[in-house]
Amino acid sequence: MKIAVVGSGYVGLVAAASFAEIGHQVICADNDLQKVAALQAGIVPIHEKFLPEIISRHCGERLTFTTSTQEAVRASEVVFIAVGTPTTEAGAADLSHVECVARDIARAINGFKLVVEKSTVPVYTNEWVHRAMLLNGAPEGQFEVVSNPEFLREGTAVTDFLYPDRVVVGCSSERAAQMMCEIYSPVIDGTYANEPTAIPRPEESLLVSQFIQTSARSAELIKHASNAFLAMRVSFINAVANVCELVGADIEEVARGVGADKRIGSRFLRAGLGYGGSCFPKDVSAFKTVAQECGYEFRLLDEVIRINEDQRQAFLRKVRTALWTLKGKRLAVLGLAFKGDTDDIRESPAVAIVKALLAQECSIAAYDPAAMERAKVELACENISYADGPYEAMHQADALLILTDWEEFTSLDLARAKSLLRYPIVLDGRNLYDPELMAGHGLSYYSVGRTAVVSKPVADPESQVPVQNGNDIQAISPNGNGHNGHAVHTNGHNGNGHHNGSLSAAAKAMKASANGGASTNGSNHAIPKNGNHPRK
Ligand SMILES: NC(=O)c1ccc[n+]([C@@H]2O[C@H](COP(=O)([O-])OP(=O)(O)OC[C@H]3O[C@@H](n4cnc5c(N)ncnc54)[C@H](O)[C@@H]3O)[C@@H](O)[C@H]2O)c1
Repeated sequence: MKIAVVGSGYVGLVAAASFAEIGHQVICADNDLQKVAALQAGIVPIHEKFLPEIISRHCGERLTFTTSTQEAVRASEVVFIAVGTPTTEAGAADLSHVECVARDIARAINGFKLVVEKSTVPVYTNEWVHRAMLLNGAPEGQFEVVSNPEFLREGTAVTDFLYPDRVVVGCSSERAAQMMCEIYSPVIDGTYANEPTAIPRPEESLLVSQFIQTSARSAELIKHASNAFLAMRVSFINAVANVCELVGADIEEVARGVGADKRIGSRFLRAGLGYGGSCFPKDVSAFKTVAQECGYEFRLLDEVIRINEDQRQAFLRKVRTALWTLKGKRLAVLGLAFKGDTDDIRESPAVAIVKALLAQECSIAAYDPAAMERAKVELACENISYADGPYEAMHQADALLILTDWEEFTSLDLARAKSLLRYPIVLDGRNLYDPELMAGHGLSYYSVGRTAVVSKPVADPESQVPVQNGNDIQAISPNGNGHNGHAVHTNGHNGNGHHNGSLSAAAKAMKASANGGASTNGSNHAIPKNGNHPRK
């Protein structure tokens, strides 16, 4: 089929390249001239696994790029709208880009067009797009607007698109449903997977996907409700992590036990710095706003947002607890992207934390495998430098902060890290390490929803964080309030100098979910040394 995709960002570009990959003739339009020039020159502007491969396979043949939406519309039977829908100051979705594209489509209409909303939009947008097209001269009967929300995740966007759990199509005619079914048929019926050059199917993906046909309003709500639900799970487990810290339990154990219930499942039950990225924050806010406009106060979502914001503040309090004062401290930061495997820093918790630390006059040496170029634009500040690798960032730093769950950060050489750091302090916002392992390496280790491990000062008192008392067990509250915490005393030895090789349950879950599983059956709980039970 002849397809136009308007918008060549994380969604549009993946959709365009994937449609070409499953046999369609695709023209991808974007009003960003530089981006289109780069794409025409074979440069892929985002970090996404398999994307360069499928673009280069089809570029110039089944896949072309243009700066003219109208040209793309004239050449196509189906037009996907995949432009951004950012948040307005009032928390609603800004639909001005969508409206602009609807206008362009209306003005270029030269025969029947199926107009497909692929951007995430609030309920009723389908009707608004229809109206905008009529107002701009598109003849009634010459087009139909269909809602087809996208569920891909950055980092696994290509395989998510080619091997989806479901394809949701909200439409009001059989003609539209049939056209959409035809477009997606190779990925719904699994025939794509059998092609010899197919991008490999992830183990956890379904052999046959569901095609879910609904009304347009239901399709729009499916997307907002899905993202709000996932965000709620993240906030839920983070709230439980806070309770774990207060009572001396281990969130990794708790999440494993909770997630083992088939009714619950283990996905999106990882405590950390909270959700970020270009979707969850804006979609939760837009869903809350649209519900309110329609007459329903979705207070649950207020709390989801509040917990998410608090999570970053709680981590900053831990940094303060670990380092006492912040002004002038040099911090090594691993991770700037909002999650691993992407270069996207939009609404990144890591970037928010770095900004807060810079505002406290810390200096930062940061490293991220893919997001540094974008971060340099966002964090243009003389107190931040960018390192070539994790160990370069650690050199003479007062503490190491792990802020993004890149797999590369799950297997650091801990002995080397300790030798490079000025103070042996690690603050891990992603629970990538086993606290006991960190203790064994003589590192003070603060993570999320688990007991802080505080190494005992050894030879050189000046190189250690001041402590409040001389007791062997340092009760440092993870919340920074000086009481109620449960710390594990370690003997300050350096570990055995070997690469660690032992991952926390969270790191194992990362690997498992990358491979399709999500089990977290590692035994990673912080076992108190010297027989001290943390509750005593
Ligand atoms: N990023 C994700 O993981 C993801 C997942 C599912 C759904 N979505 C939704 O998909 C939509 C797009 O998200 P994204 O992350 O790809 O955004 P993006 O910002 O990466 O890309 C949007 C693109 O649209 C282009 N654009 C804007 N106005 C245009 C116009 N009038 N004409 C032509 N091009 C125009 C921009 O130049 C940009 O390249 C959003 O609604 C988002 O919520 C995103």
